[in-house]
Amino acid sequence: MLKDKGILVTGGTGSFGKRFVQTMLDSHPEIGRIVIYSRDELKQFQMRQSYPEHEYPQLRFFIGDVRDGARLSRAMEGIDIVIHAAALKQVPACEYNPFEAIKTNIMGAQNVIEAAIDNNVTRVVALSTDKAAAPINLYGATKLCSDKLFVAANNFVGQRALRFSVVRYGNVMGSRGSVIPFFLDKRHEHVIPITDTRMTRFNITLDEGVQLVQRALFDMWGGEIFVPKIPSYRITDVAEAVAPGCRWEIVGIRPGEKLHEEMITATDAIRTFEFDDHYVIAPSVDIWDADQYLRERNGQRCADNFHYSSDTNTDWMTVDQIRQAVRIQLGITIEGVTPTTATDETETRSPRRLTIEAIRGDLTRVNGEKNSHHDPRGRQLLSSINTPERQVVGNGA
Ligand SMILES: NC(=O)c1ccc[n+]([C@@H]2O[C@H](COP(=O)([O-])OP(=O)(O)OC[C@H]3O[C@@H](n4cnc5c(N)ncnc54)[C@H](OP(=O)(O)O)[C@@H]3O)[C@@H](O)[C@H]2O)c1
Repeated sequence: MLKDKGILVTGGTGSFGKRFVQTMLDSHPEIGRIVIYSRDELKQFQMRQSYPEHEYPQLRFFIGDVRDGARLSRAMEGIDIVIHAAALKQVPACEYNPFEAIKTNIMGAQNVIEAAIDNNVTRVVALSTDKAAAPINLYGATKLCSDKLFVAANNFVGQRALRFSVVRYGNVMGSRGSVIPFFLDKRHEHVIPITDTRMTRFNITLDEGVQLVQRALFDMWGGEIFVPKIPSYRITDVAEAVAPGCRWEIVGIRPGEKLHEEMITATDAIRTFEFDDHYVIAPSVDIWDADQYLRERNGQRCADNFHYSSDTNTDWMTVDQIRQAVRIQLGITIEGVTPTTATDETETRSPRRLTIEAIRGDLTRVNGEKNSHHDPRGRQLLSSINTPERQVVGNGA
C-alpha cells in the first residue's frame, strides 16, 4: 500500500518525528522516500548518524523552515503523504514571542496546505494538542487556528485527490519540559513544586501518538480531528510516583495554565462521534455523509452535553501505573520503591487504548476496501489518481 510512496515529515528531527520515521522504516520498508524537513542542521546531522545512507537510501534530509512556502513546495515535489509535526510548542515561549508562534504555527500551516495542494499530495495529517481546545494561551490558540486551517483546507482542494485531517492528543509522557522529567530532577532537592493539588492531565506515550497518526493516515475521510481515549493522572499522583517521600511546595498555577486539560469541549459535542478507542470531531461543513461514516465504522454520536476533559475522564493512572510507565517508557526505576512485576508496555495500558493490532486490522480493512465503495470522495480520489506512477494510499498497491 505504501510501496514507492513519498512521505514528508515536517519537524522530522523532533521527538515525534524521530519515532514516527523509525516506526515507518521498521513497519513499511517498501516506502520509496521519507523526507525529514526541519531547520537545524545539527539535529539533522545527529539523526543522519543513526541511519547510514547505504542502509537507508530512502531517507532524505531537507533543511527548511515551514515559514518558507517556496522551500516547502520544492521539498514536496513527488511527495504523496505529509505529516506536519513542526511547531513552536512551549507555552511560555509562545506567550513571550507571539509573532514567532503565529509565523510558525499558523503561517507554517498555511504554507503546508498550499504546498500540498500545488504538489499533488494525497494525504496530510497535522498534529495538534489538547491545549487547542478552548485555548487560554497563545500556543493553544495558534494550534486551534492551525486545526481550523487543516479542516477547512478540504473545502478548497477542488477535484484533487487530497485529504487533510488532524490528530489531537495530550501530554506526551517524558517529553522535554513536561512534568515527569521536571519532578525527576527536583526529587534530588527533596522538595517538589506543585502548582495546584487539584491539577490533572491526559497522558499518552510517544508510540501511542505515532500509532494514532498512522491510523488517521489510513482511516481519514478528510476533515476529522482524531482524539484518542487515553488515561488521566493527578499531578499529586505523579509526585508520589516519581518522588516518594519528598515535601510538596504549593507554588500556584502559572500564567496560561489550566487546572484541567480538555480535548473535546461541550460545544464540539454536537459533531463528535465515539468509537471503541477514539473520538472523531467531524468537520462543521458537511463534506461527507456522517451517518454513513458512523455506520461503516460502528460509531455513535456523543450526547449533546458530552465533553472530554482530564478531570472527568473515566480512565485514571494509579501511582503504581505511573511508576511502571516511567520505568518502561523512560527506563528510570525509582529508588526505594520495589518495582512491580509489569515487564512490557501492555501491562501499563488501559484496554481501550490504541494498539498496533487495531491498526493492523485497519490496514487490512483499508486494503479490503480498495475500491473505496464507502466514500464518494474516496471513490473519486482513487479513480482520479490510480495511475502506476502515483497511487493513493489505500488502493492496495
Ligand atoms: N510533546 C508533547 O507533549 C505534545 C503534546 C501534544 C501535541 N504535540 C504536538 O506534536 C508535534 C511534535 O511535537 P514534538 O514533541 O515532536 O516537538 P519537538 O520535539 O519540539 O520537535 C519540533 C520539531 O519541529 C521542528 N521545527 C520547529 N520549528 C520549525 C520551523 N519553523 N520549520 C521547520 N521545522 C521546525 C524542530 O526542528 P528545528 O528546530 O531544527 O527546526 C523539530 O524537528 C507538535 O506539533 C506539537 O504541537 C506535542
